[in-house]
Amino acid sequence: MISRNIIAPSLLAADFTRLAEEIDLINNSSADWLHLDIMDGQFVPNISFGMMVVQAVRKLCKKPLDVHLMIEDPGRYIEQFRESGADHITVHYEACPHLHRVVHQIKSTGAKAGVALNPHTPITSLEDILEDLDIALIMSVNPGFGGQQFIYQTIPRVRKLKSLITTKNTKTVIEIDGGVGLHNAEVILQAGADILVAGSSIFKAEDPIRTIEKFKQISDNLETKFA
Ligand code: DX5
Ligand code: ZN
Repeated sequence: MISRNIIAPSLLAADFTRLAEEIDLINNSSADWLHLDIMDGQFVPNISFGMMVVQAVRKLCKKPLDVHLMIEDPGRYIEQFRESGADHITVHYEACPHLHRVVHQIKSTGAKAGVALNPHTPITSLEDILEDLDIALIMSVNPGFGGQQFIYQTIPRVRKLKSLITTKNTKTVIEIDGGVGLHNAEVILQAGADILVAGSSIFKAEDPIRTIEKFKQISDNLETKFA
């Protein structure tokens, strides 16, 4: 089971000319996971990086690698991403006509399995697969680019998913990705999120380590409040 109150910086916003230093920064911070965005120029209108970069990051990074596949027909590459060092593999609902098969393919590699929903995809799409999922990722921007504005309709969607998880009594954790910053972390966590992905707000900050620390403080404070 995945624990809650997780902060996952997204490498997409890092300075790729200093990748080793950026990963070292994550190693020396209180971040829980490192989030890696894989984009194929088909499912999303942008191309990021592939397995070779995941392998290189794996060699340097001491934290679990949370791999978010924004690619068409991701079933073609699950084993390769796992072998490259992914600890969690999340695929998009919209990219998988045979979602159940792909989720079990991920699990058979030993990785944790996640499914992501685009901002317009109904939360209820996950209803019949929820018990098989370790992670349910709600996109809070349209996938493809870092640095976009958080879509506030995400908040009621998080509440809806949280109540579905509670009703079904599954161990699924809720991950939110896109436009997350110190200004909206509390409201997102209050709605029921367990994992915050943050790219620009961490890597573009003046002091990324301190920013990660502040994210952790916000979630720790809420945890004590609700304990
Ligand atoms: C968007 C990616 C995100 C992205 C978030 O398609 O899935 O993980 O890196 O970046 P920020 O935090 O800058 O919105
Ligand atoms: Zn992502």
